[in-house]
Amino acid sequence: LKLGVLISGRGSNLQALIDACAAPGFPAEIALVLSNKADAFGLERAAKAGIATAVVNHRDYPGDKPAFEAAMDAALREAGVELVCLAGFMRLLSPWFVGQWHNALINIHPSLLPSFKGLDTHERALATGVRFHGCTVHYVRPEMDEGPIIAQAAVPVLPGDDAHSLADRILESEHKLYPHAVRLIAEGRAQVDGDLVRIDGPIL
Ligand code: GRF
Repeated sequence: LKLGVLISGRGSNLQALIDACAAPGFPAEIALVLSNKADAFGLERAAKAGIATAVVNHRDYPGDKPAFEAAMDAALREAGVELVCLAGFMRLLSPWFVGQWHNALINIHPSLLPSFKGLDTHERALATGVRFHGCTVHYVRPEMDEGPIIAQAAVPVLPGDDAHSLADRILESEHKLYPHAVRLIAEGRAQVDGDLVRIDGPIL
């Protein structure tokens, strides 16, 4: 399965996908890494791995989100991308773009959705006092951080945690969960059924 990975920054989840795809027998490859920021560190990770990169900077399209998204869409199509993976991509995508990639666009979010949509999830989890937090990979729908859940991992909140320690623990589990979810899709084991994803075989 040909992946397009959309990033805006650090790209540690991108790195996890790069590493997974490099393993023998992994059923996906990254055809393109696309960033909306020219200085995203993830672009260096991709270049180092010999993966094609593109920058489509939203600032080159002031007030024209349709043109920004059309440029991204064209780059992804040209690269032959079949599944778009959002990995720390910090722009909200329009219903048009989401519709273009219906059930072919996934996101990783650092919480156990539907809890803690949006930003600063770790601060809010600590402020709420939940004992478990985690991460979710889901198909993207136009509403932010909504859509059929493909995979989740729960992570304990430990005494003395601050947002950084909790974020680090969750990030480690993100790096396992994202390749796992991609594998389920690439193997045809994740079927969208209405608002749900049905997994064939073991879910982990
Ligand atoms: C991750 O925590 C991811 O869940 C969220 O943004 C962060 C991206 O980190 N969507 P990285 O760029 O993959 O290191």
